[in-house]
Formats: sequence, C-alpha cells, structure tokens
Amino acid sequence: MPEAHEEQAAHDDAGHMPVLAEQVLGQLDPKPGQVVLDCTAGRGGHGALLIPKLGPGGRYVGLDTDPANADYSRHRLSPIAKQAGVGLDVVHANFRDARGVLRQLGIEGVDGLLADLGFASNQMDDPARGMAFSEDGPLDMRLDTGATVTAEQLINQLPQDELADLIYEFGEERLSRRIARKIVELRTHEPITTTGALARLVRRAYGPRKSSSRRQRIDPATRTFMALRIAVNDEMGALDQLLTDLPGLLNPGGLNPGGRAAVISFHSLEDRRVKRAFLGLGKDAGFKVLTRKPVTANDDEARANPRSRSAKLRAIERSG
Ligand SMILES: C[S@@+](CC[C@H](N)C(=O)[O-])C[C@H]1O[C@@H](n2cnc3c(N)ncnc32)[C@H](O)[C@@H]1O
Repeated sequence: MPEAHEEQAAHDDAGHMPVLAEQVLGQLDPKPGQVVLDCTAGRGGHGALLIPKLGPGGRYVGLDTDPANADYSRHRLSPIAKQAGVGLDVVHANFRDARGVLRQLGIEGVDGLLADLGFASNQMDDPARGMAFSEDGPLDMRLDTGATVTAEQLINQLPQDELADLIYEFGEERLSRRIARKIVELRTHEPITTTGALARLVRRAYGPRKSSSRRQRIDPATRTFMALRIAVNDEMGALDQLLTDLPGLLNPGGLNPGGRAAVISFHSLEDRRVKRAFLGLGKDAGFKVLTRKPVTANDDEARANPRSRSAKLRAIERSG
C-alpha cells in the first residue's frame, strides 16, 4: 500500500519541515572534517542541522533536481556553512548523476550520504506545479522544471494499457483499468489539461463513497496523482541508480570507520528497493546494515508533522 498520500504537511519558514531529523543525525553521526552528500537538499532543513557538525574543515554537497529548491537551499545554507567553516556546494542535479557531480567537484568519496526521497512540501503546495488537486492547476508534476515530459503528456498520449499499468504499479490502484479507460474516453473529445479535470474523472470512476475505512477516507484521486508524479520524474529509476552507485560513493577510509548512508522513503515501493539493496550489500559487499527495522517517527513528530507518519529511514555503513 503506498503511503505517500499525507498531503497535509507541517511547514516551517522554509516551506518544508525535515522529517526524522534527530534520527538522521544519529545514523550518519557526522563529525568535523567529514564530507557529506545530501542527495535531496530540498529546502535545506537537514542540511542546516548537518553542516554545523561538519565544521571546521568539512564539506557539504547538496543536490536537488528542482532548480528552485537548489537555489533556495544554497542561499539558506551559505551563511550556516560560513559560520561553521564548512565548504558548501549546492548543485542543480539529479542524484542519479551523483557520481559525475562528485567527480566534477574533485571528490572521490563521501563519509555520509543522505537521500530524503520524493517531494518537498513547498512543491506539493504550489498549484502551478500540478502535484496536488486541492486547487486547480496545470497537469505538470515535474520536479525538474526543465525536464521535457509532463503529466499532461503522459495522460493524453500514453496508450490505455500503459496508463493502466503505470497507475497500478506506482499507485497500487486497484481500479487502474477503469480509470485508464475513462481517461481515454475523455481525451478523445478534449485534452485533459488540469489537475481538477483529472481528479474529477478519477472520482467519477470510483463512484459514491460507501465506507469510512482509511482507504476510503483518502481522496480516490490521490493514488493516481502519486503514480503519475513517480512516472513523470522516473523516481524509481533514479533511486535504483543511486542504490547501484552507493558502494562507489561511500568513502572506504574516511574519518568514519566507513562511510554511512541514510535513505528516507515515503512509499512502500521505495522502501522495498532500499531494504533489498541494503540487505544485498550487507551480505556480500563489506557493509553493515545499521537499521534492522526501518526507523519511524515517534508520536510527537507524527502529531506535529503528518507527512512524517509514512517516513521510513534505513541506514548502512561500510564495514571493511
Ligand atoms: C523530501 S524533499 C527533501 C527535503 C530536505 N531534506 C529538507 O530538509 O529540506 C525532497 C527533495 O528532493 C528533490 N528530489 C527528488 N528526487 C530527486 C532526484 N532524483 N535527484 C535530486 N533531487 C531530487 C525534490 O525536488 C525535493 O526538493
């Protein structure tokens, strides 16, 4: 069951509240002089907590596929890095290209790596990004605003079967075939261009709601929107690449006994990939899994920030 439907989220001034912050620091255990790669700099929430621990003499490299969030976190984190005596690079890049970015920066490996997957609250809350349907907006959904494929293109151009498969696979939506059929029926008359039009269509495919189970309480359009966002941004492909590259990114001989990586996921499909990759590394590649079970939010955090309720943190350390 996908969990990334907690659309209401708490906000701080940066427009996004970092989840599992203490737990991330606990797992990565950052120390002065270390190099940390934050694959998802976002609004700089985790970065603002990590950077002071790296000084003096450390280095923080942040990536974000959203150019606006890369800019935002660079501005937010610059004074913090300066004060702490830490080198700072925040780059507009997809973490699937992390190896290349580090190479360009002359960094061979990092002592700590963080990936806090998915979207930031500021992206979900902006109707112009088309990720949510609480307000009407264009069917965009790109995290990287320079990317070419939008949700509107997928909805209006994909064959019916491919649409159904996508909605089923990434949204775990049991009515995916019916929804795909309705999409194709509507788009033969007029293109589907807004989040409102798509949400109404999915609700119609569901019909009137009968019970008040949790699955029924969430808006029926939620799973379809999540599936499209994951597809538009090839989120699973990027995660697979990062997990494949992970052993080569982590320093064998850093200031830690071995480099550490922490990944926070919000969707069962992501968590399954992370779990499988970490178990594989733990068995035969000289790594130790630090989290036998995923670390989750405590009651206070879950109350204060609903988005944290679906967060799962897993961590691994290079042991040899
Ligand atoms: C959950 S937010 C991270 C929030 C951040 N940890 C903070 O505390 O502010 C996820 C961020 O990762 C970015 N992102 C998602 N997929 C990415 C990818 N494949 N490569 C780089 N950035 C990505 C999104 O644009 C978003 O800004």
